[in-house]
Amino acid sequence: MIIAIDGPAAAGKGTLARRLASHLGLAYLDTGLLYRAVGLSVLEAGGDPEDAQMALSAAEQLDPARFGDPALRGEAAGAAASKVAAIGAVRAALLAFQRRFAATAAGAVLDGRDIGTVVCPDAEIKIFVTASLEKRAERRLKELQAKGVSAIPERVLADMRERDARDSARDVAPLVPAEDAIVLDTSSLDADAVFNTAVAIISERRLARGT
Ligand code: DC
Repeated sequence: MIIAIDGPAAAGKGTLARRLASHLGLAYLDTGLLYRAVGLSVLEAGGDPEDAQMALSAAEQLDPARFGDPALRGEAAGAAASKVAAIGAVRAALLAFQRRFAATAAGAVLDGRDIGTVVCPDAEIKIFVTASLEKRAERRLKELQAKGVSAIPERVLADMRERDARDSARDVAPLVPAEDAIVLDTSSLDADAVFNTAVAIISERRLARGT
């Protein structure tokens, strides 16, 4: 079984995907890490993440051993990721890795922006996790504060708005729900409620399909 979880930044998709994978005994891949690793490599080489040649070369040398690097979780890596993710050749170079992972025998949960639309269009379950811009910015601010990073609320909101616009407006694999995705708005739900709703969605779908 493949479960595709897509949605904008800080909507709660990572928390949900990780929990579903452990609950169902499936492998889990946060595909944002691939783009973050590429973006950060370009920054470290002193390049511009919008430089297609440099970004493609970093994507071709992707090192999964780096996925645990805490620097990938930072705001600089996130912003660079959003830029390299708008380059078609970079997305194409990262596709095979994601599809190979999804083909894991026991099944897998993948979260990202285009899992249900491009990476795994045949996924059995597709959930598009979203929340209002304000709510997502509020969550991101809390995450930063918990890490001891001081941040200006207006700045966090503006950065998130900019990231949303870039992820949604790009020509290749823009952030949109797949036609057969279930949209889950988490604006007024806590993590447990999101998880329970998703589990109910999955049970219903599997019952309807007899799987
Ligand atoms: O989910 P995240 O914040 O770690 O993602 C970082 C950036 O990577 C995000 O701005 C868009 C891009 N991304 C993408 O385009 N497609 C994916 N499947 C995952 C992430």
